[in-house]
Amino acid sequence: MSTDFAKRRSLMVLLVAAAFSTSTTAGEPPDPAAVERGRKAMEGRQFLNAEWSDAAFKGVAKFWGEPAPDPDVDPDGYARAFAKRYGFHPAPFPNDGLPMGLKRSTKADGKTRGMQVDCLVCHGGSIGGKSYVGLPNTQIDYAGFFPDLFRADGRRLPILPFVLNTSRGTTNAGMMSVALMAFRNSDLSLRRFPMAMGTNLPELDAPPWWVLKYKTTMYYDGRTPAGSVRSIMQFLLAEKTADQFRELEPAFADIHAYLLSIEPPKYPFAVDADAAARGRAVFEESCAKCHGAYGERVDYPNVVVPLDVIKTDPARIEGLSELSVNHYNSTWFAERHPVDVDAERGYQAPPLVGIWASAPYLHNGSVPTLRALLDSRLRPRRYLRPPSTDFEHYDQRDVGWKFVEAPDGPPDPKDPRRVFDASRYGLGVGGHTFGDKLSEAQRSDLIEYLKTL
Ligand code: HEC
Ligand code: HEC
Repeated sequence: MSTDFAKRRSLMVLLVAAAFSTSTTAGEPPDPAAVERGRKAMEGRQFLNAEWSDAAFKGVAKFWGEPAPDPDVDPDGYARAFAKRYGFHPAPFPNDGLPMGLKRSTKADGKTRGMQVDCLVCHGGSIGGKSYVGLPNTQIDYAGFFPDLFRADGRRLPILPFVLNTSRGTTNAGMMSVALMAFRNSDLSLRRFPMAMGTNLPELDAPPWWVLKYKTTMYYDGRTPAGSVRSIMQFLLAEKTADQFRELEPAFADIHAYLLSIEPPKYPFAVDADAAARGRAVFEESCAKCHGAYGERVDYPNVVVPLDVIKTDPARIEGLSELSVNHYNSTWFAERHPVDVDAERGYQAPPLVGIWASAPYLHNGSVPTLRALLDSRLRPRRYLRPPSTDFEHYDQRDVGWKFVEAPDGPPDPKDPRRVFDASRYGLGVGGHTFGDKLSEAQRSDLIEYLKTL
């Protein structure tokens, strides 16, 4: 009885939310001067101290168990081999010989040179041989490069109270923030012992940056106002003081403006216009109420869909404790833009612009193609992520990444996280079954239409 009631209540909430939520059209365009400053900061400025030495970057190949180019004789070849091994991509801007996602700076002493990751380790990707800022990095192997660089520096990996990732392309950005925040008091002063938060967030696929401009709330649970500049500064919690956070806020306001300016790449292959026109009608009938309408302008309803309606993996929602949210809300980060503790618990239906480029799909990156997203019977449970983001691995018919079932037995020890295993915590492939009832022809038309967004 109670589940029936909960279902009805959720549907009501959904419908009410859809009716009253404010639709956004791509809001006020950001100030071009701020956008330009933000772009320069994103490409050229390392906000964090160096974590690893240059020698670690050059020496880490000794752990690979296979030959690598000599970093001094063939630095470009070495950088390419490093990028391929750990899932980085070439920087589409000058980056001092490093792949996108790593940037040079100095150690805390202000003198010793070295490097550290930046936003683009997760938010910079490539497709068809071209790199893009804001395209999620679907190849990154955090649990690969992170310990290796510490080891190459002769240091032990710091003890982490969470799993970095079990699959390429997903990262545990949420737990990184929660774990660092646990070491801070509400005034951001450092604690000797971390607070017990009771949070257990899973690894996640990063969202593309080009959808942010349409949103009024962000993150997968849609509880944080999308205008929050301070929220994206949590990445700096590893080292900054309360005063340093305040000083850096204007730079991050520029970065936020830059994020609002980013546009997705256009689908590069032919589209069947008649099929796409039929697909548009299917979309408007079956999808637009949650995902919005895409005509001359984007009319995005910003709907958060309750867990018992969407039924995708619940760990991202259920794993975040109230204690963590309340603690965050008690700090400077939330002063202007608190997390809405009364909001519906579920996943925000994202804008679908540029969706052709950002496979795999769902918040946990569990579904490799649009066709499998629209026909849940096709979703693989244990499969191999593509060997690269080159178009030879791209599936134009199903839209997304070609995949093969993972062989039985233990994964290849040289690349264990190439396997995506939906039985792991947070990686379930269930839910979002709204396409199942469509005919095969309707699904194909719909996919053709989605290519045009
Ligand atoms: C370790 C990987 C990682 C790093 C580094 C990282 N992010 Fe993210 N980012 C994520 C993930 C994963 C999410 C989704 C989090 C969620 O909703 O739970 C996210 C979400 C976001 C969002 C919300 C987007 C939306 O549409 O909801 C913004 C904005 C963002 N990140 C900006 C940044 C910026 C700016 C930086 C650098 C200062 C950064 N991120 C660093 C992984 C990362
Ligand atoms: C009841 C609301 C609702 C309906 C109807 C709906 N969706 Fe969704 N959709 C969502 C939500 C919520 C998510 C995010 C779920 C998650 O990540 O766990 C999502 C995710 C997606 C994604 C993945 C986005 C990404 O960036 O990974 C695509 C693609 C998508 N939907 C397409 C469609 C299409 C096409 C239809 C019509 C057949 C449709 N959806 C119908 C709510 C809906």
